[in-house]
Amino acid sequence: MPKIEGKRILVTGGAGFIGSNMVEQLIGRASRLVVYDNLSSGKFELIRRFGTYKKFRFVKGDLLDVKLLNKTIKEEKPGIIVHFAANPDIQLGTKNTGLDMEQGPIATHNLLEAARLNDVDRIMYSSSSAVYGRAEVKPTPENYGPLKPISLYAASKLACEGLLTAYGNLYGVKYYIYRFANVVGNNQTHGVMVDFIRKLKRNMSELEVLGNGKQRKAYIDVVDCVNAMLMAYEKAEPDMILNLATYGQTSVKDIAKLVTGRVAPDAKIKYTGSVEGWPGDVPDTYMDNSKMLGLGIRLKYADSIEVVTHAVDTLVRDSNATKYL
Ligand SMILES: NC(=O)c1ccc[n+]([C@@H]2O[C@H](COP(=O)([O-])OP(=O)(O)OC[C@H]3O[C@@H](n4cnc5c(N)ncnc54)[C@H](O)[C@@H]3O)[C@@H](O)[C@H]2O)c1
Repeated sequence: MPKIEGKRILVTGGAGFIGSNMVEQLIGRASRLVVYDNLSSGKFELIRRFGTYKKFRFVKGDLLDVKLLNKTIKEEKPGIIVHFAANPDIQLGTKNTGLDMEQGPIATHNLLEAARLNDVDRIMYSSSSAVYGRAEVKPTPENYGPLKPISLYAASKLACEGLLTAYGNLYGVKYYIYRFANVVGNNQTHGVMVDFIRKLKRNMSELEVLGNGKQRKAYIDVVDCVNAMLMAYEKAEPDMILNLATYGQTSVKDIAKLVTGRVAPDAKIKYTGSVEGWPGDVPDTYMDNSKMLGLGIRLKYADSIEVVTHAVDTLVRDSNATKYL
């Protein structure tokens, strides 16, 4: 089975929330670690401290800049690419309808071409539970279909999965497609909890929640998520699709109560009332993680409410100390 140790690794989107946690796990294991990120939603602060390592390099670059991308991959010769870079914001992609196509399939195609031309062996890809759309089977397993995405973000994720499987078939690039639940925790810069904390810091007396609060989602702690990616890489056959999630769901209402309890206990919670928080939101996600468990992967935070509580505590603590929340 392939090993992470001693490999040359390039991480796209490595200055982002999940990417920076991946960099932290890889820094002691890779022989060379390159972050390629345009800092559109990422923050250099999240990876600044790795700059002291000789084997670490940060390239401020865009995946749409084919010349710089090819040059970087040619120079660095990574054996593994971990691909996180994308637009993370479903609502933004609904307003700017070209964004997810550009930052998803076009950017991913550029990366796969650069990988093919420079003999990169393996690619890990960060897909999403969003590809399942309004799935009729819960918990939803990896082989559920037909997949009917309901947002441009999700359509973009599914298109990227297709590009990976096609490159795998045609050119032998080995791929690992990970479908994440909602990822939360250390270094989190966006998502429902961050929104709630920001709103409460602006107005301590009221929290407006998008939707009726009954939306229920699957979660995973970010450190568990990146460790599970690496464990699956080492344990499973390549060319696979794997759900990464805790088994269970937590409602938006429970998250709103947790956050207000810690930030502004007297705040009134006001719901906007719709079933979906915003157009393209999947209000009920519940992922089957038995394939992940079958690989022997065990999560530190195995229960959804435990994951969420830990994340809220981490975010509230960090929001008092850092400027990026
Ligand atoms: N956060 C979640 O809950 C979640 C769930 C499922 C899937 N994902 C996927 O995981 C990946 C990472 O998400 P995240 O939450 O860490 O988001 P993030 O916004 O924090 O990270 C994305 C990073 O990619 C960089 N980037 C964006 N476009 C780029 C481009 N064209 N060229 C170079 N760099 C670019 C950004 O600057 C940022 O650092 C994304 O692909 C996202 O769709 C995230």
